[in-house]
Amino acid sequence: MIDLRSDTVTKPSKDMLNQILEAEFGDDEYKEDPTVNSLEEYCANLMGFEAGLFVTSGLMGNQISLLVHTDPGQEVVTTQDSHIKNYEHGAAAFLSRIQFRDVDSHNGVYDLDILSETIKQSKIHKPSIKVLATENTHLATGGSIVPFEHIKNLSNISKSNDMKLHVDGARIWHAILTDPASVKYGEYCDSLTYCFSKGLGAPIGSMLLGDHDFIDEAREFRKKLGGGMRQVGIIASAARYAIENRDRLIEDHHKAEFVFNSIANEDRLFDEVTYKGTNMIFFKFDTEVKAETFRHNLEDKKIVAGFIKKEVIRLVFHKDIENEKLEEIVTAINYSSSPES
Ligand SMILES: Cc1ncc(COP(=O)(O)O)c(C=O)c1O
Repeated sequence: MIDLRSDTVTKPSKDMLNQILEAEFGDDEYKEDPTVNSLEEYCANLMGFEAGLFVTSGLMGNQISLLVHTDPGQEVVTTQDSHIKNYEHGAAAFLSRIQFRDVDSHNGVYDLDILSETIKQSKIHKPSIKVLATENTHLATGGSIVPFEHIKNLSNISKSNDMKLHVDGARIWHAILTDPASVKYGEYCDSLTYCFSKGLGAPIGSMLLGDHDFIDEAREFRKKLGGGMRQVGIIASAARYAIENRDRLIEDHHKAEFVFNSIANEDRLFDEVTYKGTNMIFFKFDTEVKAETFRHNLEDKKIVAGFIKKEVIRLVFHKDIENEKLEEIVTAINYSSSPES
């Protein structure tokens, strides 16, 4: 089977496993694992933050950020379709006891007039907004890249309104690699988390970044959530291998782009097919039945696709999809999306 459900399905490579074998270990709860310490420092420097904290998942990085930045009853601004609000099992309500306030967005980019008006309103009748959250790349719209200029605008807005700017950067390196000058997020954001376990190809782990005070508090919350770890150089070394080889992600963009450009568009089961410049292709259908037919047809051709919603199917390209398979994938898509198939 060719598994295109997600970039989380990637398996550790031989080189990654060899790097694990050579790693040094210590007890990370005593801050004595040299591989973890070095990873945190390397990642903080890379993006211009003061410090880093190795956490188990993207969800943990996002939710610890909310725990540090907010008190119960406060609000967090997010796009209507964000991961932090919609796909984290209600963790923000459960842990931080905050509520989300949606602001209109297009491809993960806020309408700045509506955002400013929403913040103004909150000073009169609504609970106070403490965090402005953004997601890059933006999953729900197909892995869209949020331009760095927009991040700078959000930084200005959050600073002038006594708010914290948090970036859910689960797949941020896909965005940065298309604009290498946009790497110093630390100059603009209060916290950022990204995943080693998606396109970067590690089996587990995310990095949470911020200033020293933020990371000290985040470490406390990580412990409270059961995320304190011991000789985790074993996974930090895999994460180190993944981040040092991040340039490889561009190959996944090329794979997705090649397939997208080869898809037949006339007389198809889907209404729309989109590619937003990173590693995903989204197919939108006007009915759930058509989406399921397409997914089922693909499965007959040994391709596994993922659902993003009942009428939206995604194909995610990653390191374990070899270039030699791309023609086969195109043929399968064209067969599966034909109304006669
Ligand atoms: C945009 C985004 N944020 C956060 C996460 C959470 O990451 P994890 O699965 O490591 O908890 C994901 C996972 O798919 C994601 O796509």
